[in-house]
Amino acid sequence: MRSVTARAPGKVNIQLSVGRVREDGYHPLASVFHAVALVEEVTVAQGEPGSGIVIGEVTGAQAEEVPRDDTNLAWRAAEVLSAALDRPLPDVRIDIAKGVPVAGGMAGGSADGAAAVVGLNDLWGSPLGRDELAAVCLELGSDVPFSLLGGTALGLGRGEQLSPIPVRGTFHWVFATATRGLSTPAVYGAFDRLVEGRIVPDPAADEAVLSALISGDARALGRSLNNDLQEPALTLRPTLRDVLDAGLGAGALGGIVSGSGPTCAFLAADAGSASGIAAVLAGNPDVRSTHVTTGPVPGARVVGRSR
Ligand code: C5P
Repeated sequence: MRSVTARAPGKVNIQLSVGRVREDGYHPLASVFHAVALVEEVTVAQGEPGSGIVIGEVTGAQAEEVPRDDTNLAWRAAEVLSAALDRPLPDVRIDIAKGVPVAGGMAGGSADGAAAVVGLNDLWGSPLGRDELAAVCLELGSDVPFSLLGGTALGLGRGEQLSPIPVRGTFHWVFATATRGLSTPAVYGAFDRLVEGRIVPDPAADEAVLSALISGDARALGRSLNNDLQEPALTLRPTLRDVLDAGLGAGALGGIVSGSGPTCAFLAADAGSASGIAAVLAGNPDVRSTHVTTGPVPGARVVGRSR
């Protein structure tokens, strides 16, 4: 059975500035996305005739929490890509090897979507180019186009108007996942309540973040991490403050809630410091798992084919 394996990264938002909610229910963003070396590998294979879309084997941490129906973004990728190509619903089997923590603000589900789009496009003879694939990815979710692009990029609009940022060197990160999830719409809802009656500036790129990335200055980057969803996430889950304090106390250059949380991200000076921070965080009662990794890494791409 012909199959294609594609890999796509998880992410952290180094900056996430959020504006007042739009008429379509989405919030305008200025987001600096940074792809990290925690990756999803999605293998797509032609299925038996009449089988439809099937989520096959799912492996990796918390694999049992991955949905196996049309709420899985890899499944949705098969639906949306075939519609974009005017093809009938495909017979396709999708296997997923998970490296991004589940339900955490690191866009693991979005990475599955981006990897499935790239893998299926390759399986079907590469009918679509990168720009068309990005449009398919946006239909799957706001974070999916970045998982396709990878690297480090400024995202405006819903996060889909992406401009790559040139980054010097490699940054060392520690991620701490939480024992319980947080819903993204609930965190945006908490943001809306917090800003009621306040002036909300239009989101814009943060010069301090951009210059720290371009010069590869980890200390400056640690000081300039910022996320407008952090305060709403902390309102819904106050114990995340203890996790952030524990990472900073263990020597992190900066700590932040990742995306809409509840995963927390810490920037470390080097690989050794990252391991030390992870060891301290592993003892925190609100932390489920810790992950040491680096960024930036490339976006979704094919890594294997078999016939
Ligand atoms: O696009 P996606 O399906 O990932 O978004 C999930 C939810 O997050 C949306 O339904 C919306 O409530 C919220 N969201 C938002 N503004 C964005 C991105 C997401 O309000 N820019």
